[in-house]
Amino acid sequence: MTIRKPVVAANWKMNGSRQLADNLLQQIQESGVDKQLQVVISPPATLYSYIDEKIIQNKLEIILAAQNINELDKGALTGEISAHLAKESGCKWVICGHSERRSLFNESSITTAEKFVKAQSVGLKPILCVGETTEEYEKGKTFSRLTAQIEAVLHIGGKTAFKDCIIAYEPIWAVGTGKPASPELAQDVHRFIRGMISSVCPTTAKSVCILYGGSVTPENAASYFAQPDIDGGLIGGASLIPEKFIEICQTAL
Ligand code: G3P
Repeated sequence: MTIRKPVVAANWKMNGSRQLADNLLQQIQESGVDKQLQVVISPPATLYSYIDEKIIQNKLEIILAAQNINELDKGALTGEISAHLAKESGCKWVICGHSERRSLFNESSITTAEKFVKAQSVGLKPILCVGETTEEYEKGKTFSRLTAQIEAVLHIGGKTAFKDCIIAYEPIWAVGTGKPASPELAQDVHRFIRGMISSVCPTTAKSVCILYGGSVTPENAASYFAQPDIDGGLIGGASLIPEKFIEICQTAL
């Protein structure tokens, strides 16, 4: 079990509704998990303000996270959301470099690093997603892929870049496939990531939370959370079913 305060984050992607938000918030309130863990909800942008108001009204300790930001401050960028706008809508954290952004929207590791640094500059905590493709995994290139993704952030953000952030390891072959990485493999990768951070900043390596994401369910969550370098989970599909999400949160207590 982690020595850091566990994080369980719901990434709704392009799913969800006000009704789902009401339901999940009510169940979080009844279970009290937000008082014991770092419980994060990352809904579509249209729900940021709605959920933020509910969090305030009900005195919840849920952390609202944006799913993405643009790396620029403002401009003629139809459909984009800046870090300032996400913050103004109540977001406290932001997901940077999710594999779907990298693969479906061609966002490079450099762009991801720019978003990461922009987020920190306005006071949003970035959740940096890293992970390898199936092909990279099969060719034994997991560590070199992660090294490149992490080095891009060090390159743009400098040695202290990881001081206030979350890292999420999401192997692409495990995302939404029902084929999660084994807890042992995930632990090996998490240890590797922590080692990389340690080589530039040993204090940060001890405090930074590293989450596993990829087909986490109430049934398998405990096996991840039992690993010493796994500090929680980034949950996709199962976070759309409030009962399942709460169960995963309770596993992390
Ligand atoms: O960001 C969470 C995610 O990509 C994992 O999705 O559906 O495999 O839990 P899922």
